[in-house]
Amino acid sequence: MNDKKQQTNSAWGGRFSEQTDAFVEAFTASVQFDQRMYRQDIAGSRAHAKMLNKIDILSDEDLQRILDGLDKVELEIAEGRFDWSIAREDVHMNIEARLTELVGDAGKRLHTGRSRNDQVATDIRLYLREQIDFIDMEIKRLQQGILDVAEREAETIMPGFTHLQVAQPVTFGHHLMAWYEMLKRDASRFSDCQQRMNMSPLGAAALAGTSYPIDREFTASELGFDAPTQNSLDSVSDRDFAIEFCASAAILLTHMSRMSEELVLWSSAQFDFIELPDRFCTGSSIMPQKKNPDVPELVRGKTGRVNGHLVSLLTLMKSQPLAYNKDNQEDKEPLFDTVDTVSGCLRAFADMIPAIICKQDNMYKAAKQGFSTATDLADYLVRKNLPFRDAHEVVGSAVAMGVSTGKDLSELTLEQLQTFSDRIEADVFEVLTLEGSVQSRNHIGGTAPQQVRKAIALARKGPGNL
Ligand code: ARG
Repeated sequence: MNDKKQQTNSAWGGRFSEQTDAFVEAFTASVQFDQRMYRQDIAGSRAHAKMLNKIDILSDEDLQRILDGLDKVELEIAEGRFDWSIAREDVHMNIEARLTELVGDAGKRLHTGRSRNDQVATDIRLYLREQIDFIDMEIKRLQQGILDVAEREAETIMPGFTHLQVAQPVTFGHHLMAWYEMLKRDASRFSDCQQRMNMSPLGAAALAGTSYPIDREFTASELGFDAPTQNSLDSVSDRDFAIEFCASAAILLTHMSRMSEELVLWSSAQFDFIELPDRFCTGSSIMPQKKNPDVPELVRGKTGRVNGHLVSLLTLMKSQPLAYNKDNQEDKEPLFDTVDTVSGCLRAFADMIPAIICKQDNMYKAAKQGFSTATDLADYLVRKNLPFRDAHEVVGSAVAMGVSTGKDLSELTLEQLQTFSDRIEADVFEVLTLEGSVQSRNHIGGTAPQQVRKAIALARKGPGNL
């Protein structure tokens, strides 16, 4: 950063009789963080300059100087040679001032018919639009990894839980495909939000539009927007698209925190269902035996800050009168941190999930505990014409015997089972096995390996599914 005093307030010096207080200058600046939108800002300036030329406000020569100058500025920034200045407040004024240094008066003509208010609204939309493409790719990479593991583990039996108590046996592939579905909705939320934000605020100027005969359709299409926004006040003041982005991110991270929690539980000695490869774990500096699931723990923890950023933006916008207010400058840090956090979490997960080591025997043993086939026994009795409520009662008594004798339902003898109902016959043992139980749930969305494979196949080929 180069804070040359003579640069201070050059953008509005005319109205002012003293320099900005040095602290206030730094306090009000945003260049420290908004410089990350430099490519979008330059793209917006190119489109605006071409439009000014098209409507004969800017000569061909000036346009050429501006375009050449912007190319130079972009290169300087990309190569780390750009001298960012706090005195020039934000990315927009830094770039414009440097352009003017490079090309003289033509640079001073660029801001005709535009304001930083429509400029920043444009930049953020362009920036988020691009970031969503990247996030979308990472979600798909993670989904791909989940599909691969789900395919490998389509037949692997584990306990399914409700209330974190063993409920019914499920296949591990089925459990993973639940994660896949959650992510599918997350991706579609980002894509909805991307579609809605793809409108061009450029031309709204400070708040009321401009007296020049600007061509907003032209700039919109130059920048790949679907159309210009319809109301200038709304264009410069609202940040609902940023809120939507953060809401989508908060839901995604909330989903990932649930996955994380399961990974943490499953890799504990008590569950011992999976092992995370060493490269995704860390040890303890004092306890030599420890291998900690840091990656899922951190992702679980980072959900807090992403949820917090959503609340920041909602609170930032609450009660703001139209149109632009400086408050809006506070949108960027939460937004950028959301982008970084989501990208990091997705990357870590997409790398880690395919490498999970599954301990099938332990999962199987755990599914055998907790009477996970009790519902299957009730369903069996219903098929033998006992009303479900009565069947529930019968099975409850059988479970009580299992608890007192320390046996699973499948380990009770036929004679023992028949003391609860004479409808129970030798074929009961087919439904009391874990395999029989999962096989029988053979319908769309059910846990049978066959259905899991169908769901995977659908996900792999269906347009919009992956
Ligand atoms: N840095 C400002 C922001 O992030 C740009 C717009 C400033 N506009 C203004 N009238 N002060 O919102």
